[in-house]
Amino acid sequence: MSLAEAQSTDKSQLRIEQTGTHISAAVSGIDLSQPLSADQVRAIESAFVDHEVIVFRDQEMTSDQFMQFGRQFGDLSIHPFSPADEDAPELIVFRNDETNPPFSTDCWHSDETFRAVPPKGTMLRALDVPAFGGDTMFVSMTSAYEGLSDKMQHLISGLEAYHDFKPFRKLFNQDKKSIESLRYFEDKYPPVLHPVVSEHPVSKKKTIFVNPQFTIQIKDMEETESRNLLNQLFDLAKVPEYQYRHHWENNTLVFWDNRSTQHYAIHDYYPKRRYMERVTLKGESAPVAAFPAADADQVRNRKSTVPDDAKVKHGGHAPKRPTN
Ligand code: SIN
Repeated sequence: MSLAEAQSTDKSQLRIEQTGTHISAAVSGIDLSQPLSADQVRAIESAFVDHEVIVFRDQEMTSDQFMQFGRQFGDLSIHPFSPADEDAPELIVFRNDETNPPFSTDCWHSDETFRAVPPKGTMLRALDVPAFGGDTMFVSMTSAYEGLSDKMQHLISGLEAYHDFKPFRKLFNQDKKSIESLRYFEDKYPPVLHPVVSEHPVSKKKTIFVNPQFTIQIKDMEETESRNLLNQLFDLAKVPEYQYRHHWENNTLVFWDNRSTQHYAIHDYYPKRRYMERVTLKGESAPVAAFPAADADQVRNRKSTVPDDAKVKHGGHAPKRPTN
């Protein structure tokens, strides 16, 4: 019997096996359909923080059991825009097939960062997935931060950025009722400011907390400069060394730390069927800034190593012609 087989058949001994250099571990020797002991909850919580994405295979359970499993790690939140179960709004249901193409998840993101207090973690499980296609990519944004040069770390320290529910705006039409409904959500979820570098509340590691799905602008930075810097930070999610690619099989459950990772659902399976369920753990506090927030002058004048006599005196970006 292989190690993997031994792990999936023995449900009495909790085992955590690191599966990636920077991110991901496999957890076995546990039956998630049953209530967990306090020790098991603690061990899973700590694996979730240490490895950022943890994978449980061969976990057959009902939707109720899935929600019960989630509640052992915190309160479940209700997504304002995603498709949910009729009787259990906390249960997001992705039933994608020929008649219902997947929507908006093929973009790097942390879940729901348009909230003032974004989720702590997310659990996703596979109910009916194709043999190939439909993998999910994850990336460690703590590793991405650690990989930056000192100069770049300095440049982004103290910055804050606005997050908005922008991809979900497409769900609203132009008729009066839809416009009213959009206004309701705009009042409820106005753009929120989060630190660009946050400190993980448990590991205390620094992590880059901007993502291309929801982050729209760095506060106090000129638009072009903000766009370029955000694109540079967004691109870090594409670095393979920081990633884990998850191939789904039915009854696999993945639990990720939303405070330190991003993910991307690969939509290459469409029009095949991919049925998944998701629960989301409410955040316990707003993201904490890893550095004191920079004020507007500090954001604009981040040229500290340029000697005074070499600084541009007159502003503007075009070369100045001598006047005679
Ligand atoms: C999500 O972004 O929550 C869904 C990820 C997936 O379907 O793989």
